[in-house]
Amino acid sequence: MKILVTGGAGFIGTHLINALLERHHNLKLEIVDDLSSSALTKKRREFFERNKIKFFHQTVEDWQPSGWYDQIYHLACRVGPAHVLKYAGRMAKEIADDADKVAKLAIRDGAPMISISTSEVYGKDPKGIPQREDIPLEVPSTFSVRLEYALAKLLNEISLINLATVESRLRVNLIRPFNIVGPYQTGEGGFVLPRFVEAALVEKPLTVFGDGSQIRAFTHVSDLVDSLIKIMESGVNKRIYNVGTPENTCTIRRLAERVIEMTGSRSEICFVNPREIFGPLYAEAPSKIPDISRIKKEIGWSPKWSLDETIEDYASFLGKKHPLLAVA
Ligand SMILES: NC(=O)c1ccc[n+]([C@@H]2O[C@H](COP(=O)([O-])OP(=O)(O)OC[C@H]3O[C@@H](n4cnc5c(N)ncnc54)[C@H](O)[C@@H]3O)[C@@H](O)[C@H]2O)c1
Repeated sequence: MKILVTGGAGFIGTHLINALLERHHNLKLEIVDDLSSSALTKKRREFFERNKIKFFHQTVEDWQPSGWYDQIYHLACRVGPAHVLKYAGRMAKEIADDADKVAKLAIRDGAPMISISTSEVYGKDPKGIPQREDIPLEVPSTFSVRLEYALAKLLNEISLINLATVESRLRVNLIRPFNIVGPYQTGEGGFVLPRFVEAALVEKPLTVFGDGSQIRAFTHVSDLVDSLIKIMESGVNKRIYNVGTPENTCTIRRLAERVIEMTGSRSEICFVNPREIFGPLYAEAPSKIPDISRIKKEIGWSPKWSLDETIEDYASFLGKKHPLLAVA
């Protein structure tokens, strides 16, 4: 079995690689990653060597594939509300070109492919709460970098599904993750739970953007990885699935309070206008709540981690008491 993971050195990739190694004996793994938002530490390099993982330190665009693959997970992408700002105006083309290149490999090899889309496709003002995969999607007329990210991911969904309709060798499925969190995610890209836990552990103020009334449903990365592997092994084709945890729905203000309660921190909560920090192109959705009935019914997947368990797991990772710290 030979598996390609693009973006495999990143947050989700790290967990996926671990799960794949646990699942398959004699697995050959290849990773393509330009390390733009991850790092090849000594520990990680040794981990790759120990597990005979072939690592290509390249962008998907520059990489020249040499082998054949049985399965392909396409994860590589610029991610994070703050991190994406650096790629304004260039991100959409890269997202489309990379997906096209990876899809051509999947067609060449007849390898099933999963591409990660985003729940941002539901936009700023979703036409349904919770959001189902088939609600109408609307394109706003105010532009932001977040919109460029969301629309490029949506274009990928459309072009991959259309391509698979006319090209029977392409077997492809996509997922729309809702606020994935867990060990190895960092606050640098602007992700909220890592920022809050980092601040709480050193008793600094927890910075809430706006009034904190934005609603999110946080999902532990282990649940997401479980969904990816289940979809890959299910034999479904041309499907799009929400992956999220509706039970873990809360406002950002409540999340900040809960992090403070659970870590026993004396931090305070402060409210700021994110555009004053990140500039006028910053944007985020007010409410993102997944309807996961499709993936439950068709794949038999359900999330297992509660919000408190997810916060606790992240806090133990940052407090360096986490079993996964041996990995990367
Ligand atoms: N984390 C979330 O909550 C979330 C939510 C929705 C969607 N996603 C999607 O999941 C995927 C993985 O995200 P993540 O959270 O692990 O982010 P991440 O930034 O930790 O991982 C992405 C990895 O891809 C690499 N990369 C980025 N662009 C590349 C390129 N053009 N060529 C080669 N390597 C490149 C980065 O260096 C990084 O290691 C992305 O496609 C992202 O859009 C994540």
